[in-house]
Amino acid sequence: MAPSRIDTPEAVVSKQQTQYGDWRNDFFRDGYVVIKGVIPKERAQGYQSDALTWLESFGLGFDRNDKSTWKKENLPQSWKGGMYLHFSAAHEKYMWDIRCEPGVISPFAKLWETEELVVSFDTVNITLPQSIVGAYDSKPWPHVDQQPERGGLRCVQGIVNLSNAGPDDGGLIVMKGSSKLFDDFFAENPVQGPTPWRTAKHKDFHPFQDKDLEWYKARGCELIKVCAEPGDLILWDSRQMHWAQFGTSDLIRTIAYVTYTPAAWMSEEDRALKVDLFENFETTTHWPHTNFFSHGKATKTIDGEEVPDPLERDEPITKAERTERLLKLAGVERY
Ligand SMILES: [Fe+2]
Repeated sequence: MAPSRIDTPEAVVSKQQTQYGDWRNDFFRDGYVVIKGVIPKERAQGYQSDALTWLESFGLGFDRNDKSTWKKENLPQSWKGGMYLHFSAAHEKYMWDIRCEPGVISPFAKLWETEELVVSFDTVNITLPQSIVGAYDSKPWPHVDQQPERGGLRCVQGIVNLSNAGPDDGGLIVMKGSSKLFDDFFAENPVQGPTPWRTAKHKDFHPFQDKDLEWYKARGCELIKVCAEPGDLILWDSRQMHWAQFGTSDLIRTIAYVTYTPAAWMSEEDRALKVDLFENFETTTHWPHTNFFSHGKATKTIDGEEVPDPLERDEPITKAERTERLLKLAGVERY
């Protein structure tokens, strides 16, 4: 086994054996679950409208009502086709409104058995359809968002769906049942360093190879395209193999990533880092209480030279009100 990369003390929670009589049974068995209607559908669609207004605000020509403007060159830079890591995207008011939705918070409170939670500054994903803007690099990238050395259930990720995620729309693929096999997989397939991701800032990540999918399938796991509607919350264990699949429909995939963990798990050292990211309107990984680093300012390469992206912003165009609820979820104020 490679040297440990665990850098914060955390409680290891093992709840798989408990029978809850609700969605938690499905979650612990399958490693994921869809919770219907945590936000009313109309309000979720309203948030999608906010996200598209934000995308139009860059003035690059994108207009949601004119499909002839749906072009990659009419959009600011993003990662994997639509994840906006810069431009203060994670701190726009509508994103905080989503994070503060009681129906979004409630399942996490139930899962962790505490109301005292901190939330990630995950960002929005707005992916224009391949059928109109052309193909993306659609090679599957199966991965987990938890480092192999961090055993046990430590993080549960969420997607709030603002658009439909039917069979032909872009959406999440999971290897159903794989979360429970996390420790077994890495015991049998120890990670050999050095590899690029092991030296990356984002420590809680492990990419799989094609042969690894067969390992999981041989143990009863199966690949599932997770379907959901606007207002639904998808939860998955960070030990679950997953990736995002681009759709074939003409729908704009619009989702907000949200993850909450107990505030008590965050060290004072990590709190200081998180407050700094909050004050600078930066995005984080899916992890709400640790694994903090800055994505830095957006840059682009012009004539072989890396220069600041002129579209970068120092603050959101619409700031959220800094309520007590928000500041506690952000980790700025203590419970
Ligand atoms: Fe992921």
